[in-house]
Amino acid sequence: MMPLLSWFWENHRDLPWRKDRTPYSTWISEAMLQQTRVATVLDYYPRFLKRFPDPSSLAKAKEDEVFKLWEGLGYYSRARNLMKGAAYICEHFEGKLPETPDLLIHIPGIGPYMAGAIASQAFDVPVPAVDGNCIRIYCRLHALPLVPSEKSTYNEIYSRVEKDIPKDNPGDFNEALMDLGSLICTPKSPRCSICPLADSCSANLLGKQEDFPLKKPKKETPTEEHTILKIYIGNKILVRKRPDTGLLAGLFELIDLPGTLSHSEVENWLCENLLSDDSAFAEESDSAVSADIRVIGNARHIFSHLKWNMLGYEIHIDSKAGSSADTEAVKKIAAKTKKLGKLVGPKEYASLAFASAIRAYR
Ligand code: ADE
Repeated sequence: MMPLLSWFWENHRDLPWRKDRTPYSTWISEAMLQQTRVATVLDYYPRFLKRFPDPSSLAKAKEDEVFKLWEGLGYYSRARNLMKGAAYICEHFEGKLPETPDLLIHIPGIGPYMAGAIASQAFDVPVPAVDGNCIRIYCRLHALPLVPSEKSTYNEIYSRVEKDIPKDNPGDFNEALMDLGSLICTPKSPRCSICPLADSCSANLLGKQEDFPLKKPKKETPTEEHTILKIYIGNKILVRKRPDTGLLAGLFELIDLPGTLSHSEVENWLCENLLSDDSAFAEESDSAVSADIRVIGNARHIFSHLKWNMLGYEIHIDSKAGSSADTEAVKKIAAKTKKLGKLVGPKEYASLAFASAIRAYR
């Protein structure tokens, strides 16, 4: 890893927190640089340090004033933690940041990365500061097929950096990894031709730089099973309006039941919800109505975060031909649809704003 330090001394970025470094200034810069780009932090860092030059001034600060200085950096919990941290430092460490990671880590807002960054850069303690850059560089250097966000990856890289970090200039070593990650060993199109570690980088030698580290496997989109019923009663179709909030808000749809229902389950549902004691399916039924159930087919719809697998049925409920009582029976069933939705004629049906998810059954 020695070429890394020489490269850093010749090529490092000229950043304000690298001049006149104190443990406090290192802490402030690291807090600002968490989740925020270097270019953005450049203006904020000197302003903040000027107004709050040490832990005791920050511990006494009014929240509003700190937030004002933080305005535009985002993630205000960091600013709140700095105030809490400053109070903690005043109470437990006589207003001075402690030297070792195991003490630093007790300070609100300081995690393992920041503890390592402060201890190595401000106190020359040879400890790793493992961040995303560092993980990417090490995964490439040793062709490690690891996923960055895994705890086990962090542990693996931490122990490798621990072996490599020099007793002299450990802070420069950690910052060299940061600069290498920002300038050369970038996530996409790394500039291997000018990388000081190119000769010893396994991913480079394999020509597979962008294959390391591994991409996080995409989470399977959750899938729901739906049974869609297109119910005709006479020449009208039963529709319903979706709630005003949530998925497909306010759009019309057909009857949509959870799960994939078999033919006989659909039959049961119809008996319970529409036909009741009109046993339209009994072989020797003397019911005045008939219900014909037919599978239309499967369809699927992919939302951004959700998949629907659908099975559609078309159902025709009609009067058995002939007697005038049949019309009454159909009317009775039509009345029962009120609790399920609304019966609409073909013209109105064609004019409704329909949920595209069930386009296949429209
Ligand atoms: N990101 C976090 N800490 C940094 C530092 N000291 N220099 C450059 N980028 C950083």
